[in-house]
Amino acid sequence: MQTITVDFASTPSERSYPIHIGNGVLSHSEIILDHLPRKRAAIVTNTTVAPLYMEKLRSVLEGQGVATVPIVLPDGEEHKNWRTLNSIFDALLGHRCERSTPIIALGGGVVGDLAGFAAATYLRGVPFIQIPTTLLAQVDSSVGGKTGINHPLGKNMIGAFYQPRVVLADTATLDTLPERELRAGIAEIIKYGLIRDPGFLEWLEQNMAKLLIRDADVLVEAIRRSCVNKAEVVQADERESGGRALLNLGHTFGHAIENAMGYGVWLHGEAVAAGTMLAAELSRRMGMIGEAEVERIRKIYAQAGLSAIAPALGPETYLRLMGLDKKVEGGNMRFILLRHIGEAVLHSDVPADILTETLVECTANA
Ligand code: NAD
Ligand code: GLY
Repeated sequence: MQTITVDFASTPSERSYPIHIGNGVLSHSEIILDHLPRKRAAIVTNTTVAPLYMEKLRSVLEGQGVATVPIVLPDGEEHKNWRTLNSIFDALLGHRCERSTPIIALGGGVVGDLAGFAAATYLRGVPFIQIPTTLLAQVDSSVGGKTGINHPLGKNMIGAFYQPRVVLADTATLDTLPERELRAGIAEIIKYGLIRDPGFLEWLEQNMAKLLIRDADVLVEAIRRSCVNKAEVVQADERESGGRALLNLGHTFGHAIENAMGYGVWLHGEAVAAGTMLAAELSRRMGMIGEAEVERIRKIYAQAGLSAIAPALGPETYLRLMGLDKKVEGGNMRFILLRHIGEAVLHSDVPADILTETLVECTANA
């Protein structure tokens, strides 16, 4: 088992937390006992993950005398909304869960974001534990404390920063993950290479085939290195007043794609890959990177089996939806662009004609 610490050294140390990564760690979920103030916990999961992993988690916890309250949500990005959030509150209140009753998220990023927002707000905050079961959640969404839900007008528009007490990433749970979901998770791994870790990108280029066949050692290393990158960024800028925004490479375009196509139609990672290609093309048109670098990025997505071609929604639709992005400041759209492979920057002065040209020339209908 590998353990990484998200270290908020300058803030109260009890907010620092470990990320445990390994094959089979779910069977040792007693390691989360130290983080349970009471011998009772609510487990939030969904209808797909519950039959796969709920019993394993419950039996380990109940074997240690921890009573569990299961809360099973409908599956899908389209359920990441107020209605589902409210159903979590109904269950927590119905079971008289208290301030000392932790909420454990067992599932992918949708379950994690919903359960985390419930934990941040239920009784003004209860302990929160992440047990991510998708590659995307293990490399990104379970770490760093962003929680929330979608709004019909925009993705992840309502939420809170709320850190978990511990993250338990069992790579064995990825055995049951559909191929398409695995690839979508790889998009968020590639992101770390592009924005800040060029050596990791090279490693991914060399190890992509093994990652796709879920080689156990390669999976653990890809998750470990992703979490190290994410932890470093989040430690330096927990509430995204600066460098954390760079983690959103491709997301301004990607969130617009997810919203326009209907939540759940494009997977988050697929939209991020397509959005990153638009960001790369925009960076090239802004004179920041060259054609060879754009091609290198296209190639690594192809290696991962991601087409990364953004849909031709029309520039007006993109601009309208991107105008709702959380990075908009004073009405001005800001973009994460690439100065080099391995170095991203936040850019607020993208000329409208270059943006429109990119949205016309670099999108296509399937
Ligand atoms: P997801 O949660 O929808 O999971 C993908 C699918 O896999 C679902 O159908 C799920 O039920 C299923 N599944 C989960 N674990 C499984 C397993 N082990 N075996 C088989 N099936 C399994 O999607 P995701 O890609 O995990 O997360 C995407 C969400 O995460 C988006 O809503 C996105 O906005 C959010 N996100 C949040 C952050 C953050 O920092 N909080 C970062 C990135 C993405
Ligand atoms: N996934 C982007 C962030 O956590 O900031």
